[in-house]
Amino acid sequence: MKFDTPATTNPIDQLKVIGRPTDRIDGPLKTCGTAPYAYERHDVAPDAAYGYVIGAGIAKGRIASMDLSAAEASPGVLAIVTARNAGALGKGNFNTAKLLGGPEIDHYHQAVALVVAKTFEQARAAAALVRIAYTRAPGRFDLAAQKDSAPLAKPSAFGGPPETRVGDFSGAFAAAPVQLDATYTTPDQSHAMMEPHASTAQWKDGKLTVWTSNQMIAWSVGDLAKTLAIPKENIRLVSPFIGGGFGGKLFLRADILLAALGARAARQPVKVALQRPLMMNNTTHRPATIQRIRLGATRDGKLTAIGHEGWSGNLPEGSPETAVNQTRLLYAGPNRMTATRLAVLDLPEGNAMRAPGEAPGMMALEIAMDEMAEKLGIDPVQLRILNDTQVDPEKPERPFSQRRLVECLRAGAETFGWNRRNARPGQLRDGRWLVGMGVAAAFRNNLVMKSAARVRLDKHGVVTVETDMTDIGTGTYTIIAQTAAEVMGLPLDKVFVRLGDSAFPVSAGSGGQWGANSSTAGVYAACMKLRGVVAQAAGITAPDAVFADGMVRAGERALPLAQVAGEQGLSAEDFMEYGDLDKKYQQSTFGAHFVEVGVDAATGEIRVRRMLAVCAAGRILNPKAARSQVIGAMTMGVGAALMEELALDKRQGFFANHDLAGYEVPVHADIPHQQVIFLDETDPLSSPMKAKGVGELGICGIGAAVANAVYNATGVRVRDYPITLDKLLDKLPAVA
Ligand code: MOS
Repeated sequence: MKFDTPATTNPIDQLKVIGRPTDRIDGPLKTCGTAPYAYERHDVAPDAAYGYVIGAGIAKGRIASMDLSAAEASPGVLAIVTARNAGALGKGNFNTAKLLGGPEIDHYHQAVALVVAKTFEQARAAAALVRIAYTRAPGRFDLAAQKDSAPLAKPSAFGGPPETRVGDFSGAFAAAPVQLDATYTTPDQSHAMMEPHASTAQWKDGKLTVWTSNQMIAWSVGDLAKTLAIPKENIRLVSPFIGGGFGGKLFLRADILLAALGARAARQPVKVALQRPLMMNNTTHRPATIQRIRLGATRDGKLTAIGHEGWSGNLPEGSPETAVNQTRLLYAGPNRMTATRLAVLDLPEGNAMRAPGEAPGMMALEIAMDEMAEKLGIDPVQLRILNDTQVDPEKPERPFSQRRLVECLRAGAETFGWNRRNARPGQLRDGRWLVGMGVAAAFRNNLVMKSAARVRLDKHGVVTVETDMTDIGTGTYTIIAQTAAEVMGLPLDKVFVRLGDSAFPVSAGSGGQWGANSSTAGVYAACMKLRGVVAQAAGITAPDAVFADGMVRAGERALPLAQVAGEQGLSAEDFMEYGDLDKKYQQSTFGAHFVEVGVDAATGEIRVRRMLAVCAAGRILNPKAARSQVIGAMTMGVGAALMEELALDKRQGFFANHDLAGYEVPVHADIPHQQVIFLDETDPLSSPMKAKGVGELGICGIGAAVANAVYNATGVRVRDYPITLDKLLDKLPAVA
């Protein structure tokens, strides 16, 4: 099926199952501990040996020598895989550094060996006996030092052009009666998901099966085939349950490759989980940014000049953090300039982490708007409303498909009690706490991706859906079941969903908040085809057929689906692909974040007190799961605002706090009352589902809302994240 005209009324609009707050159908499996995760596939590979990964002890240079003899003689050791004995390996599309390094080392903790043994403890003990001597080379580790020589990034598929210019930015900025010129920084961040990268690999007759934890099955099959130089057809990846990904599991990583190589060398199944202390430097991370924002406005608050330049660093061939991209779309203004520059750094690979680009970009832009509001003496909610646009400000012939940012801001201000905020900072006290409120817009683009599914109706009237789509904790199983139930006229418990297997039709996968809308649209296409097949088998002209209550009806004729399916069952496979509606219309999702914080007047301790997000993101397929997505994203945004930072050792080129003890994220006690409101909307330009993404929207802007609340509480403006108390303490108003 091709989606190239706006959606009209269709079976999804019945909203019998879709759009209702629905418990996760996979919930019992998880709460009972029976959902099979990649490292625990005792069911399929009970005899799996254990791999232990050795990471490089330098950031840049060469392995001078590697002595494996003591390790090889260690009890239980079955094989040791290194770049020397692994045979020729290719490099997948998305990896800028080799997943098995040596002799050249590209970054710290790049995997250089896998020790395989009968037990985990034996593998770990033997790994400690591997002796490696390195020859260090000088590396570039400091973004600030490389910034001024960093060239414009290259254009890329997801990143867009590196530079945009509209009107005369410099002239308009110079002439603006009110100006802001400020620089913001965001640190390197780690996905820090609960389940580490983990894989169990098994070879049989030259064919490889890997049970793994991966967001994008088809991408990773392709990359693994290239790396191992074997046909894609000989690889099966199975990833039915994923304990968090956040972008860290979008691509083939070392666990998959090393498990495959280890299993080949040991001639038996091998499982590999990246040890937690290895993950922060071995895998990808969200790279640090430096962002300069210049805003010019008239005295009555109309932006006349908007400039946003972003710098980030990456390995050679790496991509930039596109932190300026939302600034191309968020606010009106005739004179504009954005630029993305990219330095070469010899740090671990920078890559996608939840809302890449917008998450750190909004952290800067939405402080800048707060600063501008203060300069103008205009309420920050009002300033954003004043500068709303219903068209792409760089290409005014392109309207937004839907844009209800203003409604989000207004509804949020009303619900949150924004009128109680004191515009003068540092005024409100509650005992020892300085109290303040902050606001930020939320913005994240909506992408659509081709997605396929196969559906089968059996003699019991049960529909089974198969697609290689993944559920990374987002609730995919449930919305796919809801979609099939709605289209086929069945209750939810008559739908069975199988996900995350490369033997199934290729889906959109879980990335860029495109998963929910795109994957359900693919299931919609397959189910619409199945309706045709069922109608034909029932002797009904397809357009007249009504599917409801487990029956197919037309006029007087009514047959149970189970009966029509017969012994053999009926099946259909289809995909949804997209025409150019996403080019004619700018598709984005919008929201508004409101935050209240308390800052201890004596110690500078910051506590979030209340949070509200109002989101406009098309049809909400499952409000319960969507709310969980947004509160999870808000929580992650609090981490970004107040805690998260990979602490870079600039001499050695590695992230020093590489475990969950040193890399701080919020815990329950850090997160108070959270409220989420979804505006009731459908977007007929997005897909037949009329839905959009919401999983990343919630993290976009929230960091700045926290920062703005801290400013309102204290009068101290921190422009370098995370906002830790050392950055406030000596500037707090004197304790009365
Ligand atoms: Mo997302 S960062 O594309 O998983």
